[in-house]
Amino acid sequence: MILKATITAASHYLPENIISNREMEKFVDTSDEWIQSRTGIRQRHKVKNGEATSSMGIKVANKILKKTKISPTEIDVIITATITPDMLFPSTASIIQKEIGAINAWAFDLNAACSGFLFSLETAQSLIESKKYNKILVIGGDTMSSIIDYNDRATCVLFGDGAGAILLEASNENNGIMDSVLFTDGSGGERLYMPGGGSLYPSSKKTIDSNFHYLKQDGREVYKSAVRGMTEAAIEILKRNSLSAEDIKLFIPHQANKRIIEACSSRLGLNSDQVYVNIDRFANTTGGTIPICISEATENNLLKKGDLILLAAFGAGFTWGATLIKWGNLN
Ligand code: ACO
Repeated sequence: MILKATITAASHYLPENIISNREMEKFVDTSDEWIQSRTGIRQRHKVKNGEATSSMGIKVANKILKKTKISPTEIDVIITATITPDMLFPSTASIIQKEIGAINAWAFDLNAACSGFLFSLETAQSLIESKKYNKILVIGGDTMSSIIDYNDRATCVLFGDGAGAILLEASNENNGIMDSVLFTDGSGGERLYMPGGGSLYPSSKKTIDSNFHYLKQDGREVYKSAVRGMTEAAIEILKRNSLSAEDIKLFIPHQANKRIIEACSSRLGLNSDQVYVNIDRFANTTGGTIPICISEATENNLLKKGDLILLAAFGAGFTWGATLIKWGNLN
């Protein structure tokens, strides 16, 4: 009998507070024109004091429970893809597990930056196909505002806060996650990282004075590697499943930069109506981008049973990959 892991529900949450490009002009040397032309971003959301990655994760998890009418006690596993956990430990997934009352679930965070949601999907799919677990909540979300230097115009304009989630369930129909290709190249580590607060440079006055608690990146190198990595991963997955661009109903790329998305889409031979883009409204929410897109696409009735969806992501590590999904029935 076929056993697949299929997405049966999706949800997303963006904090209420919005920072437009025009507002950013007031505190950093940038312009709406520069940001929009270089990145496609118009605005981003930001948590208020006291909100964190777990607060957003709890909201998206509860939305899924409400939509599906599933009891929290039925959830077997919770995976939270994030690089901005509430704290180093306990995991943000553990905090969410307690708050939603998923007392039978084991829970952990997965750190693969912007590829975290794809790495989590592969992990969750393997757990379901092992036949030990039936219902897994995969949450992707980041509070990027907590690790961004708002004086550094080269990074602060790019990111936003937000989270999305999907429920992955065992299915006997031939749909769900069909294939995925995932990669890591640790030699890209120094191109995108946050040095402070870990075991190498524990937080101290010196690390704070040196701004070690902020994200650092080589923007141009990340840009080139992201286009190459996402395109190559997507081509590999299409090729090994004997598919071409016309077979794809919707391409959902990680939302880092509209120009990265356009470069990948054109290399893959996709039309713009096959590509999901919301970076203009939300900027780069790291682990949140892909589940937020999936959730919006379901709310807008863009996906029908049998549609093929291609996901692709690239992020710190470097990590990257692509996932092929055959859409099933929502719960
Ligand atoms: N406003 C105005 N000027 C700016 C800004 C800004 N916000 N940021 C940089 N500049 C300036 C630079 O200082 C530079 O000025 P200079 O020529 O006087 O030195 C000039 O603009 C050009 O800078 P570049 O870095 O060459 O600009 P580029 O066209 O490469 O765009 C960007 C920069 C948007 C960061 C791009 O490289 C990029 O998107 N890279 C990918 C980074 C990314 O997405 N990281 C997220 C995490 S990884 C991921 O999600 C895939």
